[in-house]
Amino acid sequence: MFKNQEEQIEGALESGVGTDGIDRRGFLKCMAWAGTGLVWTFAGGVPTSRAFGEAAHGKRQSDFTFVQISDSHIGFNKPANTDVTATLQKALAKIDEASQSPDFLIHTGDLTHSSKGSEFDTLDQLLKARRQVFYVPGEHDTSVDDGKMYLERYGKGTKGNGWYSFDHKGVHFVGLNNVVQLEGMGKLGPAQIEWLKDDLHGVKSSTPVVVFAHIPLWAVYPDWGWGTADSEQAFAMMKRFGSVTVLNGHIHQVMQKVEGNVTFHTAMSTAFPQPAPGAAPSPGPMKVAAERLESVLGITDVNFMAQKRELAVVDATLSGIEAEKREVSL
Ligand SMILES: [Fe+2]
Repeated sequence: MFKNQEEQIEGALESGVGTDGIDRRGFLKCMAWAGTGLVWTFAGGVPTSRAFGEAAHGKRQSDFTFVQISDSHIGFNKPANTDVTATLQKALAKIDEASQSPDFLIHTGDLTHSSKGSEFDTLDQLLKARRQVFYVPGEHDTSVDDGKMYLERYGKGTKGNGWYSFDHKGVHFVGLNNVVQLEGMGKLGPAQIEWLKDDLHGVKSSTPVVVFAHIPLWAVYPDWGWGTADSEQAFAMMKRFGSVTVLNGHIHQVMQKVEGNVTFHTAMSTAFPQPAPGAAPSPGPMKVAAERLESVLGITDVNFMAQKRELAVVDATLSGIEAEKREVSL
């Protein structure tokens, strides 16, 4: 699937469309983007981009930024990446290199690979110097003990199985848990949806909203459980907002979709990549050539510009070379 990657990217740049064949089921449109990462801004539903690190002409610096890291899978040691601690450290170093330091980090789940206390300890040790980290769990953090240890460590002040919201400089953030009642796909459950309704009730329609959860809250690829069964109920409550940004992990690759007022975005892992939807018999850790690994791992930087009420999403790989990005049209 990924052989001749350079040729494919070249072809994509020439033709303006992806050529790597993941379109086999007819509903995915794959586009490969060159560059260290792209900043996306949305005006009237039309995305425009500029290279990561390039100054935005005529625009002032963001009012604040935050960084999403995901799927660090501490404890994983299979051939797809035998040192996930080192790649997480590299991701954190990448954050420190950025010209504008983030106000906080969001971790969208699969902190650990096997929910072991020692794995959580390692993660905490690596992240302890960070100003603030907001977490949501992945299924790898909760499957062993139904999330008991996760909640003891990261659940203070949260509701139910670890959902919560907070406000920061004019943006409303909502962290959701969609990994508890797994029945193939992710699920929020009626109690969480009821809480969300109450939570959003007091938020003005002009307030930008950021929703984050582990499993994609949109139907990326239901055949592999890459979606959330009852997410429509949640999004029905968000139609009145001018700007909703949805950040997920779980699929270990960048995918993006814009639907009306909602921008859906999934992040790379800091541990190992997974195949593109349908490109393998099943999802799971994908081994790539050692020299390619850091080009498929990375972080997501989100910049907020208050004047425009805009959030710009930037993906950056650990290697600093091109971030693969797939635009999905359903
Ligand atoms: Fe994961």
